[in-house]
Amino acid sequence: MALFQSPNGTKDWLAPESEHLAYLVESFRNQAELANYHLLLSPMFEELGVFVRGVGDASEIITKEMYEFTDKGGRNLALRPEGTASVMRAFLQHNPPSPFKVWYAAPSFRYERPQAGRYRQHHQVGLEAIGVDDPNLDFEIITLLTNWFHLIGLRQLSLKINSLGDDICRPAYLQSLTSYLEKNQSDLCREHQERWQVNPLRVLDCKKLECVGVKENAPKIKDHLCSDCNTHFATLLSALDDHGIDYVLDDYLVRGLDYYTRTTFEVACLSLESAQNAIGGGGRYDNLAKSLGGKDTPGIGFASGLERVLLACQSQGISFGEQQGPSVFVIDLLNGKEARDITLVLRDFGISCERSFGSRSLKSQLRQADKSGAKLALIIGEQEKENDLVQLKWLSDHKKERFSEFLTTVTDGVYDISGGNTSFPPEFFSTENKARIVQYHLSDTLPAKIAIWVIKEFLNDK
Ligand code: HAM
Repeated sequence: MALFQSPNGTKDWLAPESEHLAYLVESFRNQAELANYHLLLSPMFEELGVFVRGVGDASEIITKEMYEFTDKGGRNLALRPEGTASVMRAFLQHNPPSPFKVWYAAPSFRYERPQAGRYRQHHQVGLEAIGVDDPNLDFEIITLLTNWFHLIGLRQLSLKINSLGDDICRPAYLQSLTSYLEKNQSDLCREHQERWQVNPLRVLDCKKLECVGVKENAPKIKDHLCSDCNTHFATLLSALDDHGIDYVLDDYLVRGLDYYTRTTFEVACLSLESAQNAIGGGGRYDNLAKSLGGKDTPGIGFASGLERVLLACQSQGISFGEQQGPSVFVIDLLNGKEARDITLVLRDFGISCERSFGSRSLKSQLRQADKSGAKLALIIGEQEKENDLVQLKWLSDHKKERFSEFLTTVTDGVYDISGGNTSFPPEFFSTENKARIVQYHLSDTLPAKIAIWVIKEFLNDK
């Protein structure tokens, strides 16, 4: 066993899974950019106050899960447990034009009990749009999340949605909820018997049997929304209806972060264990700017955990394609300039290319080439150098054959490679030819380019 292991609750992502994560980020970026969201990169740590004031000092994230530390200058800092407070801090700091529409892909850190789909370092992609309270923006944000999931191929999704009201209507609701909980406190779960006063809304989110029983008869926020919040929510729901987007109204969807006002939503993937089936969630945070000392500015966004999205994809048999090896593997029997040159040239021409290092036998380099998953081996040895040749060898069939007429066709068929006047007779690319091992003259410039051109054609067709 290695002396050191990755810390509990973290994971090294090796290929091909790391590449699946990269694919998810790339597809997310495409979606975000289609709707004019731009990348925001913010620090992985912030002043502690950004999260305490932003996320809320009564939330579990702050009370139990934050990675806090004091740096050598005595500053109180914390690793980012989520992205929204940092985005708002950046917005307030730089005062960009609004709406400020950003996307991000970044790790978040929470000291949670590790289990499948729950990590101490997880990776979120997210969108935030700051400066607009129009419910059409809520619609845009929600559909960008659900569209992205559909694009990846995920099915069996449930979009839950709720409104948590605002400063006008929520205080009265909280009062009514508090007095109800006070009357029923002895029936709550152990944790909430002690904590219901700190954050009464959290009881609505509790999955323990005792709390489930109590919350069934608890007052519901939807019956307490003021007329503005009602109109805002109704407009959003009717937009979702207009576009045939299924959702479930969930009176208990309060979410674990305290900054939410009005719209909250979450997407559950029903093919995952229910404890970790939230693959994305978000909502409005119209008071967050004020809590961070800025002027009243509305905002809405969501984040989605890539580890969970990946688990969801795996649970539904969604594949990301086989891991691709390089197109060409350069076998260097001379340990010299020729192999270095051809490797650079291939990469310059956009052909992915691996090479061997160290002086190894042809046999061992061929084995390495096979293992790399390359389609084509390009061999450069004494004989090749002497005759000004490179040898190409399809690794799939290992055929070895010389046919110099083929070479003549290549050199005679090309007049100006960069000018596009590259007419080859159709039989040149016949299946029979492609299955062969070919040899090309390698001279200073033109023949090498021809060889590259041909390699590209062959790789495209294989
Ligand atoms: P959140 O629901 O706490 O919201 O996290 C967003 C997503 O991150 C979750 O839906 C889940 O997929 C993933 N996630 C959370 N914790 C873990 C964990 N320990 N391990 C693996 N995945 C995890 C937020 O963070 C808000 N900032 C979302 C938001 C953006 N609201 C408005 N804008």
